[in-house]
Amino acid sequence: MPAKIIDGKAIAASINEETKREVEIFRSKYGRAPALAVILVGDDPASQVYVRNKIRTCAEVGIRSEGIPMAADTPEAALLDKIAELNADDTIDGILVQSPVPETIDEARVIRAIDPAKDVDCFCESNVGKLLIGGERGLMPCTPFGVLELLRRSGVSCRGKDVVVIGRSNIVGKPMAALLMQKAPDADATVTVVHSATEHLAEHIARADIVIAAIGKPRFVKGAMLKKGAVVIDVGINRIFDEKTGKNRLVGDVDFDEALPVAGAITPVPGGVGPMTIAMLMRNAVTAANLRRRDADAAEKK
Ligand code: GUN
Repeated sequence: MPAKIIDGKAIAASINEETKREVEIFRSKYGRAPALAVILVGDDPASQVYVRNKIRTCAEVGIRSEGIPMAADTPEAALLDKIAELNADDTIDGILVQSPVPETIDEARVIRAIDPAKDVDCFCESNVGKLLIGGERGLMPCTPFGVLELLRRSGVSCRGKDVVVIGRSNIVGKPMAALLMQKAPDADATVTVVHSATEHLAEHIARADIVIAAIGKPRFVKGAMLKKGAVVIDVGINRIFDEKTGKNRLVGDVDFDEALPVAGAITPVPGGVGPMTIAMLMRNAVTAANLRRRDADAAEKK
């Protein structure tokens, strides 16, 4: 039997419906919508598409968005000034700087400049530290938390399972592993992270109950590498030239056609993890707004 297709688009749509209700509750309590600033430096076409989708989804769920395009030759100091202005603006709850930024800008310094309370990507050191330590969930890394929600809402338990994460990026691989290993009902997995220096890569993947591919290499994971019935989550979004149609198209890090007859369940590309990342960003924007209000109210009472 071919794998069950995990429909990320449908699951993201239902999360967005929940977020819409949260936005309404926030608005009725505080008289304004949660607000997200989205900065895009430069004109990378893929980043432009991602940012456009983020801003469109803000409108769909009722979040006020402020799109801030900056030229590719923007000096780092000007970007840091803009972030300082947004940090000080009490009507802005979340700040996102689309990655990658041009090479002339130090991305680590940019991430560090964002107020951790407004860090809706969960990229900064204190938020990553909180994630690793566990406990109360505040701002969560969008793509890894999206993957966890995809699994949970598809009825796939990670508890005690061998999960192999392919890739060790700061955006996906590392926070994904940190989340999966937490003692929590939606996690509790035995996690292996494999990467470019891993020996016996195929052996690790072959024993995985759940494979999460996030290496940015088109169709890297082949059907023959998978255990029969494995759950396959494909985080990759790669644009390739399709010889058959003579057009570009998107493929994941997994060879979908090969994996389909072997896997127990699989996410498609597009329509799998991608919409979940945006849905979790929306959720984080509302969480940031609520936590900021909670902290402000607590400070007032003192
Ligand atoms: N570039 C690719 N994915 C992301 C993301 O989740 N957040 C930001 N800020 N940039 C990205």
